[in-house]
Amino acid sequence: MGHFIGIEQLSPEQIHFLLDRAEYWASQDRQSEQPLSGRFVANLFFEPSTRTRFSFEMAEKRLGAEVLNFAADASSTQKGETLADTLRTLEAMGVDAAVIRHKENGILDGLTKQVKMNVINAGEGTREHPTQALLDLLTIRQAFGRLEGLSMAIIGDIKHSRVAHSHRHAAAKTGIRLMFAGPLDWLDDDLPSNCPMVEVDEAVRTADVVIMLRVQKERMGSEEVPDQAAYHMRYGLTEERLGMMKPTARIMHPAPINRGMEIADAAVDDPRSLIFKQVTNGVAVRMAVLETSILGLPLPQEEEWLTVRV
Ligand code: CP
Repeated sequence: MGHFIGIEQLSPEQIHFLLDRAEYWASQDRQSEQPLSGRFVANLFFEPSTRTRFSFEMAEKRLGAEVLNFAADASSTQKGETLADTLRTLEAMGVDAAVIRHKENGILDGLTKQVKMNVINAGEGTREHPTQALLDLLTIRQAFGRLEGLSMAIIGDIKHSRVAHSHRHAAAKTGIRLMFAGPLDWLDDDLPSNCPMVEVDEAVRTADVVIMLRVQKERMGSEEVPDQAAYHMRYGLTEERLGMMKPTARIMHPAPINRGMEIADAAVDDPRSLIFKQVTNGVAVRMAVLETSILGLPLPQEEEWLTVRV
C-alpha cells in the first residue's frame, strides 16, 4: 500500500480488507507472528496523544518491528530543520516508516512527495484521522455484524474534528447513513447532501451509533470555548438523552473524553458504550495498517474482493 494518508484515498473494498486484516490480528492465536521483524518504525508526534501513540507502539512491537520514538522537543526540528529533512535523515539511516501526528492540514501530502519511506497518518490537523475511523468501523461491525444501512450520528465539534472528516469519507464507502448534530458554528460549510444536520434529540433517538466528539478547545480562540454546563445541556449526551436512545444503539467517543461536557459519566459507563472496545481495537487496526503499508501488501480491487468474499 505504501503511504497511508486518509480514508479518502481508499476504496470500499480496501476498507473492508483492512478491517478483515485487523480481525485477523485481533485473534489471540496470532501472538507469535512477527512479519515486521527487522523493520524500523519511527513515531513522530507533534501534538499530544495517548491512545494513538501507545497503540501504534503496541502494534509495532506486536508485529516485531524495532520502534524509534521521536521527541519533538529534543530534536533538530527545534533548530529549524524541516520535517521533510528530518524524515530524509531517518530514511538515510534505514527507517522504513514514519507514523506522524501533526497540526498542519496537508503536511503529509507534501512529505509523501519528498520521501520514499512510508508515511502513516496518526492524525493530521482537522483533516483526517484514518486509523481512528477504521477502528470505529471495526468496533461497529463487530457490534452489529455489518456496516451497510446503519445510521450513525456524530455530535458536537464537527468543524475541528479530523475523526468526523474521516467518517464523512468512510460513510460514503460503507453504506453508513451519517448525520451530524451540534452547534451550527461548528458545522462544516460544505456538508454533503446525504449527511443531514439534525437536532441533537433527533440524532440520539434515531441513530444506531452515536459518536460524541470532544470540544477541541486547543483549536479555538478563548472566546469560542463554551460554558461547560450550558454545552452539556444543549449538545451533550446527558442522562436524559441516554434514556431516549434505542436499546440496541451504541455509544462511541474517540476520546480523550471531557466528562460532564460532551458526555455524562453515566453514558461512558452505560452497557451500550463501546468506548473502551474502540481502544482495544485500535491496536489491531494499526497492525493491519502497518503491515499493509510497510510490506506493500496489495490491497484488493473490486473484482478480487468479490472473489475473496464469495
Ligand atoms: N482518539 C485519539 O486520537 O486519542 P489520542 O489523542 O489520545 O491519540
